[in-house]
Amino acid sequence: IKEIFETLVKGLQRLEYRGYDSAGVAVDGPSKSTDINGHAIHLIKKKGKVKALDEELYKKDSLNLDEELHTHFGLAHTRWATHGEPSALNSHPHRSDKNNEFVVIHNGIITNYKELKKYLVSKGYEFESETDTEVIPKLIKYIYDNRENDNVTFSTLVERVTKQLEGAFALVFKSRHSQGRRGSPLLIGVRSEHELSTEHIPVQYKSCESCSSLSALCTHLKIEGRAVEYYFASDASAIIEHTNKVLYLEDDDVAMVTKGELSIHRINRQAGEDPVRAIQTLQMELQHIMKGNFDAFMQKEIFEQPESVVNTMRGRIFFDSNNVVLGGLKDHLKEIKRCRRLIMIGCGTSFHAAVATRQILEELTELPVMVELASDFLDRITPVINDTLSLSLFALGETADTLMALRYCKDHGALTVGITNTVGSTICRETACGVHINAGPEIGVASTKAYTSQFVALIMFGLMMSEDRLSLQKRRLEIIAGLKDLPELIKKVLSLNDKIKTIANELYEQKSLLVMGRGFNYATCLEGALKIKEITYMHSEGILAGELKHGPLALVDRHMPVIMIIMKDGCYTKCHNALQQVAARKGRPIIICSQDDPEVTSKAYQTIELPHTVDCLQGILCIVPLQLLSFHLAVLRGYDVDCPRNLAKSVTVE
Ligand code: F6R
Repeated sequence: IKEIFETLVKGLQRLEYRGYDSAGVAVDGPSKSTDINGHAIHLIKKKGKVKALDEELYKKDSLNLDEELHTHFGLAHTRWATHGEPSALNSHPHRSDKNNEFVVIHNGIITNYKELKKYLVSKGYEFESETDTEVIPKLIKYIYDNRENDNVTFSTLVERVTKQLEGAFALVFKSRHSQGRRGSPLLIGVRSEHELSTEHIPVQYKSCESCSSLSALCTHLKIEGRAVEYYFASDASAIIEHTNKVLYLEDDDVAMVTKGELSIHRINRQAGEDPVRAIQTLQMELQHIMKGNFDAFMQKEIFEQPESVVNTMRGRIFFDSNNVVLGGLKDHLKEIKRCRRLIMIGCGTSFHAAVATRQILEELTELPVMVELASDFLDRITPVINDTLSLSLFALGETADTLMALRYCKDHGALTVGITNTVGSTICRETACGVHINAGPEIGVASTKAYTSQFVALIMFGLMMSEDRLSLQKRRLEIIAGLKDLPELIKKVLSLNDKIKTIANELYEQKSLLVMGRGFNYATCLEGALKIKEITYMHSEGILAGELKHGPLALVDRHMPVIMIIMKDGCYTKCHNALQQVAARKGRPIIICSQDDPEVTSKAYQTIELPHTVDCLQGILCIVPLQLLSFHLAVLRGYDVDCPRNLAKSVTVE
C-alpha cells in the first residue's frame, strides 16, 4: 500500500499547479468496511496542499501500513474549488454512502447538479458536501439500487450516469475500476514489464455484450500473460515517471479495467468514426512537468489562454442556437434586467477588464456603465442610486478594497454580482449571485488568463442582457461568432512569440516604455503597461491616444519606445493621427496592428500583426503580445517572473 500511496502522492504533486486547496485518496484497504466486491475502500482526505495529505496518509490509524494488502488500485485528486469552499469534506473522492460503495473523483463542472441533487434528496439520499461532484456517486448508487436486474454491468451504470450529467467532466469511479469523460481531458498510461509499442497491443473494436443494449461498440486492449499497470490521469505529467505510453480518451468514452484487460466503450459512436485507439509515446521530460514545458507559471498561463477562454464559455454559450446562459445569474435575471445603471468595480487587472468591456456593455445594455477603481470609489463616498447593479471583479475573490466597495454597494441597496476565478472565496458568499470565470488556477502573480476570461465573462453578460433586444440581434450574432473563433485566433497570436522575443531583445535595457491606443484598446494599453511594470520593473504608462497632445507627447523623442495599438475599428483614423504625431517627433513606434495594413506598417519601426476579430473582442487578442513582451523583458532583465518583488497574488489589506 505504501507503493500505491507514493505513486498517487507523486502524481498529485505533479498536478498541484492545477489546484492545491485540498486533496484526497481512495484505496483498497484492510476489510473494515466492505464494498460490493468484498473489499474495503478507504477514503483519506485533507484540506491544504498535497503535502498535508501525504503526512495524513501515514498517520491514519485505520490503515495498518505494514499489513500485506492485495491492493492494486488507488485513486487520488487534488482540488481547486469550483463549488463549495476548500475543506476535507468538499475534497474528492466523493462517496455514494457511508460504506463507500461507489467513490468518484471528478475534473470539471456539473452544471445541472442542483436539479440532480434536489431529486436525489427527495429520494432520501443524504449529501455531506457542498460540491457539484457529490451528485455523481449518489446518482450511480440510485441507478444501481433501482436496477431492473442483476445483470447490469458497471460500464452500463457509468454510461447511465454520464447521460444525466451536463457540464464538463472526466470521472474515475471506484467500484469495479472504471471511468468516463466528456469535455475534460483524461488519458490512460499503460505500463508493461515488456517494451510496449502499438504493434504489441491489439487495439480494435469488437462487439461487446455489456454495450449491446446501448448499441455501442467498444475497443478492447489486452496484453495477455504480461504484468500490466494502468494509470488514469487528467494530465500526462502525473504519470510520466511510470510510463510514456498513453491512450487519450475521447468525449463519451467509458473505459474499464477488469482482470488486467482494458476496454473502452463508446456511448455515442458516430458513423465513420475511427475505431482504433492508437497508443502514443510521449516525448515529455520529467523535469519539465511541474510547469508543463514552460519556464514560468506566467508563461504557461499565457499559453493556456486558448483553453482557458473555452472553459469560461463552456456550458454557457450555445453556438448552435446562439444562446447565452449564465447559470449563476439565472435566479436573479429579472432583477438584473430591471437595473437602470451598472457599476463595475475592481483593482489592477480586474479593473482593466471592466474598462475593456465598458463600451460594449453600454452598447448591449443601453444603460450608463461606470467603471471604478475600488479604492477610489470608496474614497469618494460615491452615491449609489436606486436600481443599480454592481459588478465586482476579482481574480482571487479576496481583494480587500473590492470587497469593501462591494459591501458599500450592498449597504446602499445595489444588487451585487460577483465575477471571480475562485469559487468558495469571500466574494461568493457576499454577493447576491455571480459568474465563475473558470480560467483554472493562476499561479503567476501577474494576472494573464484571468484577465482574458473576465473579459469573456463580461461579454457573455452583455450578450445575456441583450438577448431580447431585436435591434441588437445582428450585433449579438457577430460577437457570438467571434467568440467561437477566439481560441484559434489566440493560438495564432501566440505563434508570434519568437518575433516578440526579438523585440524584447531590443527593448530590455530601456528605462521606460509607453503603450498607446484608444477606444476598445485603451484598456489593453493600461493592462499591457501594468504587466510590464510589475514584472520588469521598467517604468511603463498606458496612454489614451486621444490625450497624447494634451501632455504625453512631450515624452516622445527618438529614444522613447512607444508601443501603439492601431486596429481596424471605429478609432482607426484617430489612432492613425496619433501615429503621425509620434512619427513627426521621430519616435520609434512599435505597432500592434491588423494583418495587411501597409499604411500603418510603412510608418512603423517594428510591427506585430494580429488576426482580425470583432472590434469588441480585439482587446483579447491585443493583450497577448503585451503579456508575452513583458514576460520576455523580465527574463532578459534577470527577474523572477512568477514572484515579482513587493507583490502578492492576493491583497487582503486595504
Ligand atoms: C496584476 C494583478 C493585480 C490584481 C489585483 C486585483 O497582474 O494581478 O493587479 O489584478 O491585485 O486582484 P483580484 O483580481 O484578485 O481582486
